Amino acid sequence: MYNDNPTLKGIKKEIDEKKQGEVFYQEVNIDEPDGKKFYIESYGCQMNFSDSEIVASILGEAGFSATKFMEKADLILINTCSIREKAEDTVRKRLRIFNKMKRQKRGTMVGVLGCMAERLKKKFLEEEKLVDMVVGPDAYRDLPKLVATAEDGNKAINVHLSREETYADINPMRLGSNGVSGFISIMRGCDNMCSFCVVPFTRGRERSRDAFSVVAEATDLYNKGYKEVTLLGQNVDSYKWQNPENEQVTTFANLLEMVAQVHPDMRVRFSTSHPKDITDEVLFTMKKYENICKYIHLPVQSGNSRILEKMNRTYDREWYEKKVNRIYEVMPECAISSDFITGFCSETEEEHRDTLSVIEFAKYTMSYMFYYSERPGTLAARKYEDDIPLEVKKRRLAEVIELQRRISHEHNKLDLGKTFKVLIEGDSKKSDKEFKGRNSQNKMIIFPKPSPELASGGEGYKVGDYCNVEVLEVTSATLKGRILEKGK
Ligand code: SAH
Ligand code: SF4
Ligand code: F3S
Repeated sequence: MYNDNPTLKGIKKEIDEKKQGEVFYQEVNIDEPDGKKFYIESYGCQMNFSDSEIVASILGEAGFSATKFMEKADLILINTCSIREKAEDTVRKRLRIFNKMKRQKRGTMVGVLGCMAERLKKKFLEEEKLVDMVVGPDAYRDLPKLVATAEDGNKAINVHLSREETYADINPMRLGSNGVSGFISIMRGCDNMCSFCVVPFTRGRERSRDAFSVVAEATDLYNKGYKEVTLLGQNVDSYKWQNPENEQVTTFANLLEMVAQVHPDMRVRFSTSHPKDITDEVLFTMKKYENICKYIHLPVQSGNSRILEKMNRTYDREWYEKKVNRIYEVMPECAISSDFITGFCSETEEEHRDTLSVIEFAKYTMSYMFYYSERPGTLAARKYEDDIPLEVKKRRLAEVIELQRRISHEHNKLDLGKTFKVLIEGDSKKSDKEFKGRNSQNKMIIFPKPSPELASGGEGYKVGDYCNVEVLEVTSATLKGRILEKGK
């Protein structure tokens, strides 16, 4: 995708050079033929990517069509992330490029959306003089009006945070989809106050979306040929929706079950689970449905109880270990992954070693790993000194990455010789003679495409099919195998 788009080459290189998980970027694969055009780049988490699809839908209604070529755009948008300083630096760098474009092509408008817009508000327009629009995550319905204001040559801003907005009625325009896996936001905001985290400030209060609108979106995706949905929220396990008509409450476990029942051939995933909120009810719902993937992203952040308390995660090491044990007890085949922050305020070497040991304990299949980046306005920024030198934070991060790589490899080795049901997502990165797909545990498996005659039924395999793959080789990042027989 990057290859035919020169404007994305630079950013691809930039992202490739960064450590795993440092800055996430969504690719757009659409170029609609007519009308006024918008181009959108998105950074940050899946929820931001999903928001960009809502933005695209709102702009579509307002007469704009999407393009993956920045040069063609009348409106350039960047959906931003504030989670770490580096994420914000990336946005500023991109804005310099957009501004160059603006000077070359008069009349081009530049808009900043998302978390950084929300964090900096009016200040953004003062700091980045060439930006025309600043729009926070709860104000996207206002975009047509804001664009009109900007078209008239005025600065436009709406950073109002809402207690109700869930965009439940908006049918997202899938921007970077492979046509197999779709993402559905089921809630917005976050009511936790992890002391390091900027999200509660940029996304506002937690609110859950109408359960029936979630099921309707999942059904619509299935009818369009999708085979997998991922339910998204900062803290999905605290999903709670009360039906205004009969006051009946839908919990996350209820919602999971409702979505799993859309069709047995459609897989259900979810992210993120806060360890304090994931319940037995959720675990047993997962166990009950074959199509709910046996994979939980359960970020621990640190393996040390004193640091966890300072982080305001509301669980300690012992409690977390019990939760992990419970997951393996209910679903021995379940995979667990995590997020880590190294070098949080006052973390000692010994406390850092507790983080290493929790990786060994939980046997994560993979993790997103970061060093602590102080965020203005957060509890930690106000209360604690950011006192671990950068090189120490980085060295600890390198140790965490190294150990996780070894544990991932060991975990993958246990899969040698096993057969998994894999959903084919597309060609592998390296070759169009190979497919890639994931098993229930979210592990990527690469395997040669079989010749059509070999597949029973004769019609061969295509993207979106399930197949059974035997694992023959493993690295720390992927499994390699061969197709056994036609799956369902
Ligand atoms: N809601 C999710 C996490 C959202 S942010 C949860 O509670 O797990 C994604 C990850 O970014 C976090 O899990 C954390 O590991 C990391 N992160 C958040 N704030 C950070 C900061 N100030 N510095 C470094 N990493 C941070
Ligand atoms: Fe941030 Fe904590 Fe909320 Fe996750 S749960 S978004 S880390 S405040
Ligand atoms: Fe970033 Fe905002 Fe998501 S800060 S991680 S884009 S909620």
